[in-house]
Formats: sequence, structure tokens, C-alpha cells
Amino acid sequence: MSDKKLKISTNDTLITVNNIVKRFGGLVALNDCNLDIRDKSITGIIGPNGSGKSTLFNVITGHLKPDSGKVYYDGQDITGFESYELFNLGMLRTFQIAHEFSNMTVLENLMVVPENQKGESLLYSLIYRKEIQKEDEEIKHKAFEVLKFLKIDHLKNELAGNLSGGQKKLLELARTMMVDAKIVFLDEVGAGVHKTLLNDIADSIIRLNEEKGYTFCMIEHDFSLISRLCDPIIVLAEGSVLFKGTAAEVKENPKVIESYLGKGVVK
Ligand SMILES: Nc1ncnc2c1ncn2[C@@H]1O[C@H](COP(=O)(O)OP(=O)(O)OP(=O)(O)O)[C@@H](O)[C@H]1O
Ligand SMILES: [Mg+2]
Repeated sequence: MSDKKLKISTNDTLITVNNIVKRFGGLVALNDCNLDIRDKSITGIIGPNGSGKSTLFNVITGHLKPDSGKVYYDGQDITGFESYELFNLGMLRTFQIAHEFSNMTVLENLMVVPENQKGESLLYSLIYRKEIQKEDEEIKHKAFEVLKFLKIDHLKNELAGNLSGGQKKLLELARTMMVDAKIVFLDEVGAGVHKTLLNDIADSIIRLNEEKGYTFCMIEHDFSLISRLCDPIIVLAEGSVLFKGTAAEVKENPKVIESYLGKGVVK
């Protein structure tokens, strides 16, 4: 468990990205990138392929170290923090490619999320069998609640590997609910997902935001989905912010049309 503690919010901004540069050899993936994410917002990130969206998520969530620049989380400098430390501070993410444990059931996939389960230590498990059983029961109860919230409780005993692409994305979302998340980064949660399931995912994001106070930051290519969910929308191009505004402002902006929307990439 990290000893780093999340401070209580003193203002509206939850994440600040300051002058981030990230290079891969000679390629500059993030080029002096600056942006803010408002607490309790559902912030959208769009931009052409290769514009640095996933790299930005990787830098913020501790999966990549930037070459220069700073990231602040609730006023605290978190640059260089490891992803597990950020996880313990309530910062979670899903991956562009879902990361489920395919040979485990949906329920088991959820039950492995909470950290520091006492049952993980052999000595502890021998001495404190009752406590462990109780904790296991609590985690299972929580997992059932999460599955019900997302309306996928009927899938609890299904092997995760057998789920459809969209159901795997919902499972990713479910995993973020097993701990007390404060901000969740979603990397193309809608990609390849059937329309009906996409609506379920969108509804779940709205409910998590409104009922549980989650802040979301989501990368998405489906402009109708992002305009329905997100305010503001940040447009990345060539590793820096091209524009930030509401969906209507983004759609009208000549620079955005030129670099992204006009290219017919957006549905
Ligand atoms: N681990 C890596 N090693 C080398 N180059 C990388 C790595 N990750 C990303 N890149 C490069 O950095 C640039 C930004 O990539 P990134 O994945 O952040 O783009 P993206 O906006 O998420 O694109 P997409 O919409 O296709 O997912 C691309 O040119 C990519 O090829
Ligand atoms: Mg990406």
C-alpha cells in the first residue's frame, strides 16, 4: 500500500498536465502538452490516429515516464509515480485493448481487483481463516452489486474469455468499481462495440458520474458518443492540444475540421 495520500480538493481542477514532452526515439509523441481535467467532469479526448492520446493516458496514469513536464493530481505533483501508487489514490484506467483474465469468470475478474486482500498471505491465511472468509464474502457482495449496477449480473459465471468485445469493455468498467475510484481514464471504451451495448456503456458512465461522483476522461473516435457524454472535449493533434470546447464548438472549429473532423474519420 502506498503511503502517498490524496489531498482533499481545494478547487475545481483534478488533473493538470504541464508542458509534457514524451519521445520515443526520434518521434515526439507528446509535444509540450498542457491541459486540465475538471473534477466531476466527463472530459473527452479526440484526435487523429497517432496524435498522442494513449501516450497522454500512459503518462498521466504512471505507465510511462515523461521526458519533461509535470502532472498534478488534486494539487499534488504525481510526475513519475508508479501506476499502483496512483491506483491506491483512486486513479484507474482501462486499456485500448481490454485486459481481462480470460480463464477466470466475470465474478472472479472483479474479485481480484481490491488490493491487500488478507487471503493473499499464506501465514495470515493459516492464522486468520475466519477473517479472510469474511473479507472474501464482502468482496463477493461488492462484486454482485457492481454487476447489478451495470446490469450484467447474468454473466457472473461466464468465463471472461467468452464475452463479446462490448461485454469485455463493460467488465473493464466494472473492475474500476471494485475500489473507490476518483478518476477513471477510458481508452476507446466504445471501439468495436455493438450499438445497443454502447448505449449501456454510455448510460453506466453517466450514472457513475452522477451517482458515484466519478470523474471520467475518455478517448473516443465516435463523435456522436463523445458529444453526448463529454463536456469539455479536448482535441489533440501532433502531441499537443489543438482546441478545447463543447461538442458544438469543436464541430464548428476550422482548425479541428482541418486536422480531424474533415478527414471523415469521425462517425
Ligand atoms: N511504446 C511506443 N514505442 C514507440 N512509439 C510509440 C509507442 N507508443 C506510441 N508510439 C508512437 O507515438 C505516437 C502516438 O501514439 P499514441 O498511441 O499515443 O496515439 P493515439 O492518439 O492513441 O492513436 P490511436 O488513435 O491510433 O490509438 C504514434 O506515432 C505511435 O506510433
Ligand atoms: Mg490510442
